[in-house]
Amino acid sequence: MTDPVLARHAVRSFKADKPTADEVNQLIAAFQAAPCGRGEADVTQAVVVEDDATLQRIETSVNDAAYGAPLLFIIATQDESNFGERNASVAAENVMVEAASLGLGSVYVMSAAMALRKDPALLADLGIDKGYSPQVVVPIGHATEEIAANDRSSRYKVIRK
Ligand SMILES: Cc1cc2nc3c(=O)[nH]c(=O)nc-3n(C[C@H](O)[C@H](O)[C@H](O)COP(=O)(O)O)c2cc1C
Repeated sequence: MTDPVLARHAVRSFKADKPTADEVNQLIAAFQAAPCGRGEADVTQAVVVEDDATLQRIETSVNDAAYGAPLLFIIATQDESNFGERNASVAAENVMVEAASLGLGSVYVMSAAMALRKDPALLADLGIDKGYSPQVVVPIGHATEEIAANDRSSRYKVIRK
């Protein structure tokens, strides 16, 4: 099997068919297994959205920044926590790598999370606790087309000593 860490890449165009219940459960398990700063699990939470009406309401709120995906992970963290952005990012990566291992596409979307922060009524309806704010939205689904693997082997400066 291809290494899912290397197979993962940003997907921004999705088919309408939804991931199966088993796949969603595996993605949630990957979210649950993410590292959390100082072991403080209660500073991070996620809303997993599959309901079509709710997906549509979110797309309208974020100006289509969730790319019409049939499944969204909205990862939110406690406003006072020093670990918020970091917890959310490692959790998002866990979910995206798990998605890749299931043959699903995904993308880390910060802009949708920032847009959601401006819609407190929607956040309340989604069940995000007061005092928590979205950090990242991860749209997930079957990619409309295979994206040719691009060479990322030299993306970052790496110093070896
Ligand atoms: C902190 C962060 C913020 C990002 N925000 C967005 C975003 O708002 N919209 C989007 O389409 N992609 C967003 N991305 C995805 C990046 O554009 C993407 O990961 C990058 O182009 C590298 O491509 P790759 O993931 O295929 O390696 C974000 C990624 C990171 C790490």
